[in-house]
Amino acid sequence: MPKSLYDILLDVSKSAMIDEGDLQTAGLLILTAAIHGLNINRAGIWLLTDDKTAIQGKMLIDGDDCTIDSDILLLRADYPIYFSSLDSERAVVANYAQTDVSTSELSASYLAPLGITAMLDAPIRHRGQMLGIICCEHQGSTREWDSQEIAFVSALADTYGRAISAAQRNDYERQLKEINEQLEHKINDRTNVLQDALRNLNHTQAKLIESEKLASLGRLVSGLAHEINTPLGVSVTSSSHCVSQLGLVKKRYKDGTLDEDEFAQFLNDLDDGLGLINNNLNRAATLVQNFKLSGAIHTANEEEQFELRACIELTLKSLQPLLKKSQIDCELEPGENITLNSYPGAIAQIITNLITNSIHHAFDHTTDKKIRLHLTQTPEKITIHYQDNGCGIAEDIRPKIFEPFFTTARRTGGSGLGLSIVYNLATQKLGGEILLDADQSKGAGFQINIPTS
Ligand SMILES: Nc1ncnc2c1ncn2[C@@H]1O[C@H](COP(=O)(O)OP(=O)(O)OP(=O)(O)O)[C@@H](O)[C@H]1O
Ligand SMILES: [Mg+2]
Repeated sequence: MPKSLYDILLDVSKSAMIDEGDLQTAGLLILTAAIHGLNINRAGIWLLTDDKTAIQGKMLIDGDDCTIDSDILLLRADYPIYFSSLDSERAVVANYAQTDVSTSELSASYLAPLGITAMLDAPIRHRGQMLGIICCEHQGSTREWDSQEIAFVSALADTYGRAISAAQRNDYERQLKEINEQLEHKINDRTNVLQDALRNLNHTQAKLIESEKLASLGRLVSGLAHEINTPLGVSVTSSSHCVSQLGLVKKRYKDGTLDEDEFAQFLNDLDDGLGLINNNLNRAATLVQNFKLSGAIHTANEEEQFELRACIELTLKSLQPLLKKSQIDCELEPGENITLNSYPGAIAQIITNLITNSIHHAFDHTTDKKIRLHLTQTPEKITIHYQDNGCGIAEDIRPKIFEPFFTTARRTGGSGLGLSIVYNLATQKLGGEILLDADQSKGAGFQINIPTS
């Protein structure tokens, strides 16, 4: 290849414009190089249509004119021989274009009117596929293309293939960017929707908690009012009965009509009435005391390090008279010596309430009455297992037993606060949990788990 053609080719090949992805700039550079190198006036880039039935002028330079995306379309049907030459995917070298077999079809409509005498077409390939041609046209006197020129145009066509790759890569990058942006938008939208949903959820949850707090406070207050109302009502009725009896007796005494039998009867009535008042006021006082105890859970006694077994043994000792009276054998099973940092007062109160419950509710039909306490420790928690061998807790009341004021023993003075106090102590004071054993067939069983840290 003569030095001049080689230099032109090198300049084109080294130009950054080829790989920038702008096909028009690259095309212009390549066609200008062809025109300059071959010393011609006309050159064009023609691309096959997708169905390969035509070629269309993508960029045509004629002297100083440059047409981009021209609507000139050469149909395969009109120029079958020319197209079959193109199909061979080799350069079409027509030194005498108007008479050459491969190009003579173009003569009347295209070559002759434009005075084109020689034509050199080099195939543009991309990824192994022929996409079109670079067509160089010589006008005027005859011209024979030499092999250097053919190689030069073929190299320019390959360079255009490189430019197509760059444009495609740009296109992919743009598409990718668009997809990324869309994705980012979508993610942002979704995140906003989720954040809104979360905000709503938190809001609703807070409202629910608030209304549940109010509801349970309401239940607590109305439960307490109801509980206290009964003994107070009885006391009021009984005291007004006593007052009216007293009035009657006073009157008879003044009138001098009170006889000894009537007076004895009055004293009996007064005795009964005052007894009733005393019992019921005591019951109301106990209720208030228990209620205060359940409210005082957060402040009751100090946290300290203590030995669990010793704490429970002390509690059992204090309950010994009660246990003895009820003929209950209470045993703290041998097991680990466990030291913990917690609230011994809370544990004593829990054990006391569970044992008084067993005494009051468990053993109506049991002869050999037993209570067993078993202590275990794992790295995470300490467990107190409490078991009596009484009637167990009936399935239908199990979900309610920890509710304040739930009792099956209202008539015999139960207030229903015992287990609710136990529950609050276990969960709030000790930071643990109390679980009812699923199997209650051998008696009531509870498991109190206290976390070690
Ligand atoms: N060991 C048990 N065996 C059988 N039933 C029990 C036992 N412990 C509790 N229960 C049932 O659970 C209910 C609720 O117990 P809770 O201690 O809260 O109230 P209470 O003992 O009835 O009244 P209070 O403890 O206020 O005097 C009891 O009424 C009883 O029906
Ligand atoms: Mg109780």
